[in-house]
Order: sequence, then structure tokens, then C-alpha cells
Amino acid sequence: MTLLIRGGTVVTADQERRADVVCEEGVIRALGPDLEAPAGARVIDAGGCYVMPGGIDPHTHMQLPVMGTVAVDDFCSGTAAALAGGTTMIIDFAIPEPDQAPVDAFRQWREWGDQACIDYALHVAITWWGERVAADMATLVDEHGVSSFKHYMAYKGTIMCDDQVLYDSFRRARDLGALCTVHAENGELVDKLRDEVYAQGVRGPAGHPLSRPPAVEAEAAHRAIRIAEVVGTPLYVVHTSCKDALDVLARARLAGQRVHGEVLVQHLVIDDSVYAHPDWRFAAHHVMSPPFRPKQHQEALWAGLRAGVLETTATDHCAFCTDQKAAGKDDFRQIPNGTGGVEDRMSVLWHHGVGAGRLTRTEFVRATSTAAAQIFRLYPQKGTIAVGSDADLVVWDPAGSRTLSARTHHQKLDFSLYEGMEVVGVPAVTVSRGRVVWERGQLQAERGAGRYVPR
Ligand code: URP
Ligand code: ZN
Repeated sequence: MTLLIRGGTVVTADQERRADVVCEEGVIRALGPDLEAPAGARVIDAGGCYVMPGGIDPHTHMQLPVMGTVAVDDFCSGTAAALAGGTTMIIDFAIPEPDQAPVDAFRQWREWGDQACIDYALHVAITWWGERVAADMATLVDEHGVSSFKHYMAYKGTIMCDDQVLYDSFRRARDLGALCTVHAENGELVDKLRDEVYAQGVRGPAGHPLSRPPAVEAEAAHRAIRIAEVVGTPLYVVHTSCKDALDVLARARLAGQRVHGEVLVQHLVIDDSVYAHPDWRFAAHHVMSPPFRPKQHQEALWAGLRAGVLETTATDHCAFCTDQKAAGKDDFRQIPNGTGGVEDRMSVLWHHGVGAGRLTRTEFVRATSTAAAQIFRLYPQKGTIAVGSDADLVVWDPAGSRTLSARTHHQKLDFSLYEGMEVVGVPAVTVSRGRVVWERGQLQAERGAGRYVPR
């Protein structure tokens, strides 16, 4: 399919300009003012709209098996929903079982991932340590284009890394030229606090944030950053949710350390009052880690995003329906952790960021695609609009609006974190490698159309 996107304002992370865009065979072939339509091209009128790189969500968990259940959005449904929201690429996680070879887990996730409707890549989690893991890390880098490894500092007894594993894995990744990422929560403390809170008689979701206070996150972020400093390797901290952890990242960056921060869009706009909701189901839907924080943390996170301490925005999309959350009806420790929102990230960030004067449009592009592409080695194939880049684009209507709701979203989730939120700024058209897949409310996602992208 050849496309001419005509009459829009092209926004990248470094500039805005009036330009038309020609896409052919899945890539951008031409960019400039008043381009002629190639023979047979379909013309899309982008008048009044911004033409931006499609979103890249660098942190999702499609069909994640966890706590005896499986996240309901699989690679097909989750990525179809992503397209309806203007996101054209995800980076998901292959997470080996304790003792499972990382390459085996990677192969399993590749099989699932090949059902995706959009391009995808995989981080691989390091969940234990041994010669096999060290060898597999090299295989993953050299043969499979995995250039980032995730470390959970929480979830004691299952996938948590202690300091020795962090140290060994960080060294190995450094020698392989790969980037380490961490889920920063002190799993030892979480384990203690959860049991203490439960023993005090707190059984409902309100116990979740009590057992994971900001200090637990800040301590782990500090420890991981210091271990990375000792090893001499860069670090990426996923889902920074509170001022305490943000300050740790900012200090390390000011001291010259290469530390990248990610923020989840939901942490920017939702606070911990959700756990006090009288409807148990509503509160349980918000059980994720790190938890939602008291409201005062939100402006700090916005400031961190503007300042560039937090460079990327993600969703950690890991969708559990009400019946799955009910496993922890009488014990918050049994509620599967995770929330959704891969479909809503772009609109929520535009509305509360650009619309509210907190972000410029170029900052929006940087935070929704470019920074992730650069940090995770997808740039300039992804994350920008340039001749030769993949034709992953969104035609953004800044005046269009929609009301976010589980009744109308495309995610399989029976709940929306943003139920009833009206957002101004929506994707009018989404283009995935040159194919129009979302157009003014019509979704034409295709199972398996996405490719695995080695990095
Ligand atoms: O609560 C969360 N974040 N669920 C997803 C699994 C994880 O922690 O990565
Ligand atoms: Zn996650």
C-alpha cells in the first residue's frame, strides 16, 4: 500500500513543520511540503492534525502467566487495542521460571509474540544466576537481538534477584554491551510488611500500598543504582512512581551516572485514594506494583518528566479481570498485581500533559516514542519520522475527544482505570508499517501482522 499523508504538521522530538509524508512498502519514502501523490497512492487528509511517530510502549506484559492465572490481554488483543490508541510498538518481557533457561523462556514468548498485530521486541528477565544464564545472555544478545535485561528486586521466593544476582548479571550485561533494567522495590521488606499488615487485620486492597511505601521503592532504586555504579554500567529504572525514588534517580544523574527513568501514565494521574473505595472490586482493580501514591507525588513525576529525569512513559499493561482479582478477595496478598491501559497512554498523556500545559508537543513525542527507541536501540527505525524509518505513524486530532470506558475500549479488561475520563486529543488514524489500521473509530488490526524487532 502506498500512502500520502497530506496537510498535517509533522511533530518529532526535535521539531514541528508542515510536511506531507509518503509511505511505501512499510517505510517512509518521502517527507516535505506539497508532495505529489505517487501513482495509486491512497491520500489521507491530515489537515488540522499532527502527524507523529506511533507510540512505543516499552513496558507491557501480554498474556503473562502469574499467580496461577494469565493476564487476559494476549499479544493479539493487547496490540490491537494499542493501535486504537495510537501505539504501534511494544516491548514486552520474557520472564523465565526460577531455573528455566533464559533462551527457552525467550522462545516461548516469541511464539506468543508472533500473534501480535504490531511490531514488538522483548526484554528478558534474569530470575536466577548460573553458568547457563551467563551463556544464554550472550546468545540472546548475539543471536536474538535482545539488548536489555530486566531484574525484579521484588517478588521474593519467585523471580526476585538478590544483590549477588544483580551484581553478576549487571557485570555480564556490561561486558555484552546490553542495558540492565530494574523493577525497584525491596522484596525482603515487602514480604515482611505484607505479613505484618495482614496480621494487623487488614485483609482488603488497602493493605497493598501499606506494604509497599515509597521508602521501599527508593531504597531499591538507590541500591540498584549504586550496584550499577560499582559495576560501571548504565541502568534503566522501570515505573518510577514516587518523589522519593525520583530524587534518587535525579541525584545519580547529577553525579554523572547514566540512569534512565520510566514513568507509568497511570501514576501521573491516579492517586492512592482508589484503595479506600467502598467497592472491593474497584480497589482491587488498582492493585499493581508499585502502588498508586498520595497525590503530592504526581506533580513531582510530571516535573521529572519535563526535566528529562524520567525519559519514557509506559503502561506496564498486565490486565486482570474482576474474577481474577477475586482470588485475593479475603487476602490482598493473593490479588494478582497488574493494571491495563496500553490503549489509553497516548490520549491520557496528551490530555493531562500537552492539554494542561505541562508538556510541549515535541516533549510528548520524546516521551511516547523517541526516548524509548533511542534507549532500547530501535532508533531511527522507530521513534521518529524520517525518510527510511518504518512507517509507524499516528495522525493525531488535537480537537477530537473520547470518553474512556471499559464499555468502549478494545482491551479485554472488564474495567478501565480511566472510566468516565474525557480526553481531548485522539488518534484519528494509526498507520502500522504503512498499513492504515485505525481510522476514525474503525480498527483493522491483523493477527500476526507484527514482526519481532531485534535490537
Ligand atoms: O503490578 C505489576 N507491575 N504487574 C506486572 C508484573 C510486574 O510487576 O512486572
Ligand atoms: Zn512490569
